Amino acid sequence: MNVLLIGSGGREHALAWKMAQSNLLNKLYIAPGNGGTSDFGVNVDIDINDFEMLKDFSLQENIQLIVVGPEVPLVKGISNYFNQHFEVSHIDIIGPSKEGAMLEGSKQLAKEFMSKYNIPTASFKTFSVDTIQEGIDFITHTNPPYVIKADGLAGGKGVIISLEKNDAIKHFSDIFTDNTFGDAGDKVLIEQFLTGIELSVIIATDGKSYIILPEAKDYKRIGVGDTGPNTGGMGAVSPVPFADKAFMAKAEELIIKPTMRGIIEERLDYKGFLFIGIMNCDGDPYVIEYNCRLGDPETQVIIPRIESDIIELFERIISGSIDEYVLNVNPDFAATVVLVSEGYPNEYETHLPIIDSQTTQNSLVFHAGTTKDVNDNLITNGGRVMSVTSMGEYLKQALDVSYYTIDHISFKNMYYRKDIGQDLLNKKTDSIKL
Ligand code: AMP
Ligand code: GLY
Repeated sequence: MNVLLIGSGGREHALAWKMAQSNLLNKLYIAPGNGGTSDFGVNVDIDINDFEMLKDFSLQENIQLIVVGPEVPLVKGISNYFNQHFEVSHIDIIGPSKEGAMLEGSKQLAKEFMSKYNIPTASFKTFSVDTIQEGIDFITHTNPPYVIKADGLAGGKGVIISLEKNDAIKHFSDIFTDNTFGDAGDKVLIEQFLTGIELSVIIATDGKSYIILPEAKDYKRIGVGDTGPNTGGMGAVSPVPFADKAFMAKAEELIIKPTMRGIIEERLDYKGFLFIGIMNCDGDPYVIEYNCRLGDPETQVIIPRIESDIIELFERIISGSIDEYVLNVNPDFAATVVLVSEGYPNEYETHLPIIDSQTTQNSLVFHAGTTKDVNDNLITNGGRVMSVTSMGEYLKQALDVSYYTIDHISFKNMYYRKDIGQDLLNKKTDSIKL
């Protein structure tokens, strides 16, 4: 089949790499793609939120399936748009309807959904411009740490965790007075702080049933030891040793099953991936957030572990037969380390030449912010430049290979975290092959 993949990150490069291995793929297009996706298909320069352009392109190239990587087009209703335009209503979309995507698009709505379906999550209160003083009073009368979240999409930067009352009050007030989160901050949630260790669990669903993909752990902060601002993710590993059978069984009973029940009862048209950020609080799972898509950089460790055909997975999602999909998973560890431009997640330079000495046969290098210059040389084109994934029987092996490969890649001001996966090493679990 002819597939149009939407997005330009490491997640999309990993998906393109995997789709290219399928006999079911005829032509692959990626909008807009990056300097790595062009190895597996044709990059097309279309704005991913311009649905009319995507419609025209899909008709012109006889696209049968659209796989949507990022959240913004989903929350803007790309799936509804294609369904509602008869010329393209035959084109299948991997990604939920706008209503389903709102589980990510509005944190308040997601919280109401969780409360209705009895899904464990942090308690919260919502405030708006009319109730700023109530919010300040609330902070004044509760104890730190304070978790302050913009209701809408904020590109992974909509959460402030503050350890100090006055600092929290300032951040909270600035959202309304300085518009720090734009429209995403029209409503603001203040949440109970959950202490624990985080895990990313992603399900693939046809809207009725689901399969659980291999779990992963993401390293969100920019600095070593989980310090500094949040980023789009600085690395990831899969499997996650603390996500043992007992914990995953609890997560399935208490979170995944009631979430699916909610999707069905609310009649959400949900065909795609649902990412559940879970906090393991002393062995009990709580939902931190839902995302209506695959995670980045989680995808760069999950996809290489999946041995089954991914286009068959997409077909089963569309035809409503996900429970017949046989998911074969490589039991080895995968570890990815993200290379960024110094300054990210704030200001950084772009268009810097990338030197990749091609000593990378043992790793998969997934591009994100890269492109080719007029001479076809690879240059940086974003803050998140690429991620290096390796596999190993033990987590340490996977990490060592990734760091070895990184020693052979360079660009000016390259930065990466040197402690990805370290918190999971030196534990008994890493000496037992999972
Ligand atoms: P989110 O965008 O909701 O995933 O939040 C970003 C990050 O903030 C999460 O990955 C957590 O590390 C942290 N976080 C969010 N909510 C909470 C909470 N209620 N308690 C503790 N940490 C949180
Ligand atoms: N890694 C979390 C996300 O994709 O938002």
